Amino acid sequence: MSDKKANTQVAIDQLIASRWSPRAFDANKPVEDEKIMALLEAARWAPSCFGEQPWRYVVCNKFSDEVNWQLALSCLAEKNQLWAKNAPVLMLACANSQFSHNGNNNQWAQYDTGAASENICLQAVSSGLFVHQMGGFDAERAHEILKVPRTITPIAMLAVGYEGSVNDLHEDFIEGEKAERERHEISELFFNGEWGKAYGN
Ligand SMILES: Cc1cc2nc3c(=O)[nH]c(=O)nc-3n(C[C@H](O)[C@H](O)[C@H](O)COP(=O)(O)O)c2cc1C
Repeated sequence: MSDKKANTQVAIDQLIASRWSPRAFDANKPVEDEKIMALLEAARWAPSCFGEQPWRYVVCNKFSDEVNWQLALSCLAEKNQLWAKNAPVLMLACANSQFSHNGNNNQWAQYDTGAASENICLQAVSSGLFVHQMGGFDAERAHEILKVPRTITPIAMLAVGYEGSVNDLHEDFIEGEKAERERHEISELFFNGEWGKAYGN
């Protein structure tokens, strides 16, 4: 397994440091049903505004339903399809932006759905799996062919599977797959008490 662990400024939990977004997936290795269920359970326990749980996921497993998996794949941007075609599980993360208790707009629905997806990513690491989230997909097509109701917003697609060999990747992705991961400095992103006053300086 490639070591793309985060090179952190401060020590953090290994689970978080070990999560990254590979493009090389093993197309021949199915994800066990129990592991898929654990990913969904992890998402289920994400926090949400008013406890609404606004996330919804369409899960498409190539090894149990290749037809729907192909439909999900066809929703992805062409460039994403080049590598995501090797991910045995594709999920569509959606948000329901209407509060069930009063029908008002839930402006935190997408925020909460992102939290649920990150839970999936972290549970995946714990299960020896990897997840690569994608904004590059056709939401309109997802409505049409994955039958997502118009009241629900498709947010992102997630490629899930075991890590594959970098050598099997399309040449466009090999360099990025091997590159060191980078982040902005803590002082650039976090402020101390007021905007603009760098934290930790
Ligand atoms: C909402 C979202 C959308 C993304 N869209 C794409 C995408 O369409 N294609 C892609 O290859 N990667 C996509 N990524 C992956 C990011 O490029 C990746 O998370 C980022 O470069 C940080 O790398 P890391 O996850 O390995 O730390 C997306 C990630 C997120 C969270």
